[in-house]
Amino acid sequence: MNRFMDLADLSREEVVDLLALAQRLQDRPEPRALAGRILGLLFLNPSLRTLSSMQAGMARLGGQSFVITPGSGTWQLETRLGATMDGGAAEHIREGIPVLASYCDALGIRAFADGRDLEADLDESSFKAMAALCDKPLINLESAMNHPCQALADWKTLDDLDVPRRGRFVLSWVNHPRALPLAVPAATLHMAAHRGMDVVVLRPEGYALPRRLMDKARAAAEASGGSLTETSDRAGALAGAQVVYAKEWGSPAHYGDAGADGALRRELADWMVREDWFRHAGHDCRFMHCLPVRRNVAVADEVLDGPRSVVRHEAFNRMVVQMAVLHRLLAR
Ligand code: CP
Repeated sequence: MNRFMDLADLSREEVVDLLALAQRLQDRPEPRALAGRILGLLFLNPSLRTLSSMQAGMARLGGQSFVITPGSGTWQLETRLGATMDGGAAEHIREGIPVLASYCDALGIRAFADGRDLEADLDESSFKAMAALCDKPLINLESAMNHPCQALADWKTLDDLDVPRRGRFVLSWVNHPRALPLAVPAATLHMAAHRGMDVVVLRPEGYALPRRLMDKARAAAEASGGSLTETSDRAGALAGAQVVYAKEWGSPAHYGDAGADGALRRELADWMVREDWFRHAGHDCRFMHCLPVRRNVAVADEVLDGPRSVVRHEAFNRMVVQMAVLHRLLAR
């Protein structure tokens, strides 16, 4: 493995193998495994978990890392190809990424969706352009349509909690003050399908995920023996659920149109996960969310603070699985 860009690049067996390595590193730490190795981290967007867990994971394996957050103490980076750079950005990624890559043994990049052109974002055109500039092992720390580190951590969390492979996994849209990217819903949907689960996408009208994302997940479900359905019927979706994974996302039907999306979501304040959502769910149904989460907008306190919530377990697993990824990319 010399890149970690998409969980779909790994077979189900390869994911299981990578998770076994993560568990081994959790149980039997290897504090010298990456001694002398350096990880570069380029964050074009904010983070709490990804930034800190990558640095902590690298340090726990004996390696070191540096962080670049353009515009905060370093030059703003222009990402548009062919741009006339007479604005705020003093440096282009065409120089910036190869220079950073030359200092390190692996590079992680976070670059969210541009959010204007759905097809371009589905194509990952911006992230692919950045990846082409990096001649070192590369880790996707969240791109327009993917968040493989989150997906891998969530798969481990499901395994840790003995959630059955064919369990009913409900990915539910939840409310947020504004449109958010599709990366986490896309990665989560695919992960659960790849694991072989019975996946239900629950979302209000206007928030159906793009066909390309659904088709990719459906193919993964077919290969793994799972299934994928989609509905706006909340009671039907949640009946018998073993996992409810909440996520906020913008309307693909109004991609890049904040006004139209805002008008649509004004009527959707009741899409906040409350304890009564679990009335007909499985008796030990778990609640998952990648974080950050807006309390009492997306999810009620009673759920986040209650016994079914595993959000901190997911966040901890970010570090554990990323250690396995780093080990695979960098151990000699
Ligand atoms: N879940 C996640 O990626 O969190 P951060 O945005 O804080 O990194």
